[in-house]
Amino acid sequence: MKKLYITTPIYYVNAKPHIGHAYTTVACDVFARFNRMLGMDVKFTTGTDEHGKKVEQSAIKAGNTPQGFTDSISKLFRDLLPVLNISNDDFIRTTESRHKKTVQHFWEKLKNAGYIYLGEYSGWYDMRNEAYFAEDELVDGKSPLGGEVQYITEPCYFFKLSAFQNKLLDFYEKNPDFVYPTQRRNEMLSFIKQGLRDLAVSRTTFSWGIPVPDDPKHVVYVWLDALTNYLTLNGYPENEDQNNDEYWNNVIHFVGKEIVKFHAIYWVAFLMAVGIKPPKQVVSHGWWLSEGEKMSKSLGNVQDPYKYCKIFGSDALRYYLMREITFGSDGNFSLDSFIHRYNSVLANSYGNLCSRVLAFIVKYCNGNVYRPTVTSAEDEEFINSVNNCIGAIVPLVQNYNFSKYLEKIEQAITLANQYMDAKKPWTLKLDNSNRMQDVLFILTATIYKITKYLYPVIPQATTLLMNQLHMSCDMQLSDAEALPETIHIDSVTPLFPKIDAKNIKRQDVCAKD
Ligand code: MSP
Repeated sequence: MKKLYITTPIYYVNAKPHIGHAYTTVACDVFARFNRMLGMDVKFTTGTDEHGKKVEQSAIKAGNTPQGFTDSISKLFRDLLPVLNISNDDFIRTTESRHKKTVQHFWEKLKNAGYIYLGEYSGWYDMRNEAYFAEDELVDGKSPLGGEVQYITEPCYFFKLSAFQNKLLDFYEKNPDFVYPTQRRNEMLSFIKQGLRDLAVSRTTFSWGIPVPDDPKHVVYVWLDALTNYLTLNGYPENEDQNNDEYWNNVIHFVGKEIVKFHAIYWVAFLMAVGIKPPKQVVSHGWWLSEGEKMSKSLGNVQDPYKYCKIFGSDALRYYLMREITFGSDGNFSLDSFIHRYNSVLANSYGNLCSRVLAFIVKYCNGNVYRPTVTSAEDEEFINSVNNCIGAIVPLVQNYNFSKYLEKIEQAITLANQYMDAKKPWTLKLDNSNRMQDVLFILTATIYKITKYLYPVIPQATTLLMNQLHMSCDMQLSDAEALPETIHIDSVTPLFPKIDAKNIKRQDVCAKD
């Protein structure tokens, strides 16, 4: 089995999880589940990024110790995973000893390779984003990432990033698909071409971090610490030979657009410095606004994934996140459009198709339908049209076009509902029960196929449906056509009950604190 390693960024613990965080994780989960269905051996990891001055200060503000504070917020991220139905294989906290060991080992490697030196740093420090900026990088007195800045001078270790300019350009040229989408790749290229300065990779102004080996006054820069999680999760340093590790050779980092630079430039240079192959791809997505504005506690529009899952179920949130915006672009999260998509697609289209077909079979066919011996030209036309929609899906997912993938499925569902309306099994029942059987089998086979392809996005409802069909829930696309001669259904459970928008208010789905 071909191996694939998929990672989410590890989440900062200075704020509770919101739908922006849920988005990266769900996208990775859909990609992981889809690839498992294609027969890949997938390792999928996530976790929390817990060091840094910002966390230290948030802990003090909350009247807690950094460890106590990070324990409680990290738990909120970890507990969200089963709520969102995430199929991750591991969860890392950067405060774990396995990670500390990896970071210190990695540091020694960088140092022994001659890429770390001691110097002094003065610059504008953006505490929120844990990054230094030069005077000419500031925008209206703030960091280019929007954070407030302070002028700081500190002794500090540097990483010789400047030595990697040409190596990076060469790497980008040889790997044109390294950054997805192309727009972000172009941004990275122009950043590299502007010239790379050496990077400050230690701090002495706070202590909540991993101590630099042999110089514990310094803690390791939080991004160097955080990025190394991807190696910790792949067994490094015990598993030292990452270049011959099949997961590492096929690792894809999913990230939001604002952190591409850290993954696609700094991380690549760190890895090159120690002689480990860069990741296969850095895939970046856009940002969600909430009800047209940036999410903020003061506006009361921080969309809470726990609340969405509780009210609508995790499938509904997953579907909306993957369908509403084109992956890679920004978009707007709104309660109205959420309810609209839920009702129109999940309840009225897919849910209704499944329940009307299956309930009919239970009621009028004793729960059994048999494979037809002959099919009409119209049946074939319908089956072909559905196959055309479904056939487009694998390349769409492989190219991270999740919204188009779901659009194709929606087309197939519409075709199936139209076929049922046109063939009218309720009329056939009166005078042509054989034909009724055939129509119902064809519809059930279509539902089965659509359900398989929907599984990565809505695993809960699709598993329930497979159970109703008495089919295996071990989802593999290779058997999407493999149906038994007889399909039996005992009973039907509605998948997505319709929701009355009037009953749900913004405060029901937004975080209170
Ligand atoms: N800790 C770093 C990542 C280190 S990875 C070695 C970090 N954490 S974060 O919590 O700020 O962000 C994690 C992910 O959440 C990013 O991919 C980011 O894009 C995503 N989102 C946070 N808010 C978001 C939106 N409003 N919309 C979409 N995604 C956003 O960066």
